[in-house]
Amino acid sequence: MILAANFKTNHTRKSTKEYIERLNNFLNSKNPDTDIFIFPPFTALDNYKSKATIGVQNAYPAEKGSFTGEIGLEQLNEFNIKTIIIGHSERRHILGENQEFIAKKFQFFKENNFTIFYCIGETIEVRESSKELIFSYLDMQLEGIDLDYENLIIAYEPVWAIGTGKSAKYEDIKEVLEFLRSKTKAPLLYGGSVKPSNIKEIISISNCDGALIGTASWNVDSFCEMVDLSTKN
Ligand code: 13P
Repeated sequence: MILAANFKTNHTRKSTKEYIERLNNFLNSKNPDTDIFIFPPFTALDNYKSKATIGVQNAYPAEKGSFTGEIGLEQLNEFNIKTIIIGHSERRHILGENQEFIAKKFQFFKENNFTIFYCIGETIEVRESSKELIFSYLDMQLEGIDLDYENLIIAYEPVWAIGTGKSAKYEDIKEVLEFLRSKTKAPLLYGGSVKPSNIKEIISISNCDGALIGTASWNVDSFCEMVDLSTKN
C-alpha cells in the first residue's frame, strides 16, 4: 500500500519540519507496512531523516540553467530527492503544461532514475460526455509515457474530485483502474477528496494500490489516521 501527501502550496519550512517530526513519531511507534511519501513545497526541502520518502511536486527537466522560477536536478540532488510528481492536473490546467512538455519531463526524470508519480484525470466535461471520450482523454494523457518504467506509480485523479470534498464513485474508480491495469504493471493510486471517512472503501477497490492525498493530508493527525486506517483490516 502506498499513501502520499501532496502539500501543494501549503505549509512552511517550519511547519513541514514539525509535521515530519510528528509523522516520524507515529511511524516509529506503529511501524505500518505502508509506503509513505510526502511532497512539501520547494522552500521546505531539507535533509530530513524519516521512514517516509520526501519528493517534489514539480521540477524543470534540466540539471540547471536559465529557467526562472524553476528548480532542476542540481537543487534536488542537494537534498537527495529522487521522487517527483509529474502531470498533476493543477500543473496541466492552471500552469498550462501540455502533454508534449509533460512527456519531456517524464523522459528526463526517468533517465535520472526518479520514482515518478504520474497523474492523469478527466475534467467534469469529459466525465459527463461518454465512456469512449473518457478513455480516449485518459489515453491522450499517457502519450509519450513509458508505462513499463520500473519506478513508475500512476495516480488517477479526476479533476472534478480534487479539493471538492466529493470523491469519484467506487464503480467509476474501479473502471478506470481496470483500464490502467490493462496497460501497465505500475502501482495504481486514486486521488481526489480522499479523507479518513472514505479511505478504507477507496483502497479496497480492486487494482487500487493506495492514495495520493491533498487537503486531508495537510493536517498530520488526519494523515496519520489514514495511514492507520489503511493498514488495519
Ligand atoms: P484533494 O485530496 O485535496 O482532493 O487533492 C487531491 C490531489 O490533487 C492530490 O494530488
